[in-house]
Amino acid sequence: MKGRESGMPEEDYWSSFFNPEAMLDQLLVMPGERCNVLEFGCGYGTFSLPAAQRAQGVVTALDIEPAMVELVAERAKAEGLPNVVAELRDFVEHGTGVPDESQGHAMIFNLLHIEDPVALLREAYRTLQPGGILSVIHWRSDIETPRGPPLTIRPKPEQCQSWLSEAGFDSVNRVDLESNAPYHYGMVARRPVG
Ligand SMILES: C[S@@+](CC[C@H](N)C(=O)[O-])C[C@H]1O[C@@H](n2cnc3c(N)ncnc32)[C@H](O)[C@@H]1O
Repeated sequence: MKGRESGMPEEDYWSSFFNPEAMLDQLLVMPGERCNVLEFGCGYGTFSLPAAQRAQGVVTALDIEPAMVELVAERAKAEGLPNVVAELRDFVEHGTGVPDESQGHAMIFNLLHIEDPVALLREAYRTLQPGGILSVIHWRSDIETPRGPPLTIRPKPEQCQSWLSEAGFDSVNRVDLESNAPYHYGMVARRPVG
């Protein structure tokens, strides 16, 4: 089931909201050298592709839209990124299909307004190795934004924090995305080691 309000606008417009490279410098914490990275809902690959330039492990980019998956696979090939696996997957219905504790980092960007955010966070937790890191970004509610889901379903940082704790993450920290994504807030959370 495609998450509510998760369609994408034209790519140029979408890209105008972010500086993905600079954001990943802030968010893509990897607890080891050859970490795998998993993105839930990769869209145009705005973040999956630059993540693959940084990660030594495999970057798994999942999306329910065939056109998005094809685009990301084509771009990975064109950009010489053999470590990208773009896969058609409905992770709400079927989970990610990624083995337990296999990922060093998971990204859930612009998606936590879906119907059951805690289930998605629990799935991210399952895939992360102990000490693995989840990063989350979402549209701010404290300022006017040019896009984003309706405010009635748009989670505030405090809400995400509470969901992250419910899913088992500890060490949840806010990341100020500053001029790299002025309409967004960021968070990183860790799957506990013990
Ligand atoms: C708002 S876009 C965000 C894309 C990307 N994370 C970004 O920030 O640039 C959400 C993406 O999640 C995908 N999506 C929504 N529900 C999904 C599901 N159940 N399984 C897999 N992908 C899903 C949509 O097709 C869309 O590409």
